Amino acid sequence: MKIQNVDFDSYYSEFLKELENIEDLSSLNQLKGKFIGRKGKINELFKNLKDLEPQGRKVIGGKLNELKEKISFLLEKKAQEIKARAQTERTVDLSLPGKRSWCGSFHPLTITLRQIIEIFQTLGFRVEEGPEIETEYFNFEALNIPADHPARDEQDSFYLEDNFLLRTHTSPAQIRVMQKYQPPIKVIVPGKCFRRDAFDATHSPMFHQVEGLVVAEKISMGDLKGTIQVFTKRLFGEEREVRFRPSYFPFTEPSCEVDISCGVCGGEGCRSCGYSGWLEIMGAGLVHPQVLRNGGYDPERFRGFAFGMGVERIAMLKYGIPDIRWFYNNDVRFLDQFKTFR
Ligand code: PHE
Repeated sequence: MKIQNVDFDSYYSEFLKELENIEDLSSLNQLKGKFIGRKGKINELFKNLKDLEPQGRKVIGGKLNELKEKISFLLEKKAQEIKARAQTERTVDLSLPGKRSWCGSFHPLTITLRQIIEIFQTLGFRVEEGPEIETEYFNFEALNIPADHPARDEQDSFYLEDNFLLRTHTSPAQIRVMQKYQPPIKVIVPGKCFRRDAFDATHSPMFHQVEGLVVAEKISMGDLKGTIQVFTKRLFGEEREVRFRPSYFPFTEPSCEVDISCGVCGGEGCRSCGYSGWLEIMGAGLVHPQVLRNGGYDPERFRGFAFGMGVERIAMLKYGIPDIRWFYNNDVRFLDQFKTFR
């Protein structure tokens, strides 16, 4: 056929008709070969261009190129459609249940600390902080702890240069708070503490405490007992009994330790409470007059109570965790179990 007589439009509509019926990539490829492949219809027409004079070659060549471009555009578009359809058919099975994405949880110590803080905040306590690096003065002397006290031994504390050490408890914050504020005060001080203990099931060289300090004109042992009782029952449950047992700390007088009835045996005595029925949860007492004085308060006018508890110990009792090291191992099988807690 003479190239001058070719009806380009009918080529195009023939292509469109065939394209319409194509559903898969291999027939699409066949169609591509048939029209714009090396031996395809369009190329055959291109070959005939040489028979034309230059002017006609230009006009017809332009039309051919245009047709070829339109066809390859539509072929490419169809190929994309077929691929996209194959993709959705393969990956979306609407009858399957959805995939739940993995979600982390708060650390059990964070959860416990937040609960402790929240309870004291509702009782009117403010949250303060003290430094982890302390001086011997704040950590020991100001708290009435004598130079020959075993806690001051180099074996028991992490000493730094120039009378600095890592605080062995949060009690030095008592002095700092008193020096910073005038009474009445009502604060808790959460924070990290450090002791030269080897790791075992109940010891860690780093652990957390929450210190409490209340100072006002009329403070008695009754205020301490009432506060701790409310706190303990809110944290562990109303059914738990609270007991105040005489004890000794150089910075409180009188001093006591606070026990709660064992949650496993209900106070009957079992293996987890060492057959005593009670579990110790904190140290407490009325602030020693010398400590008030070191804080800049007049012990003739003000009295106070103080308490200190270990966050790890509280969390272990609350969640039945038998080994303190589990808090620091970052084992997701352990941490993952606290998802349902706030
Ligand atoms: N600082 C004491 C300890 O670490 C706890 C305590 C705090 C006791 C406040 C009495 C008053 O064991």
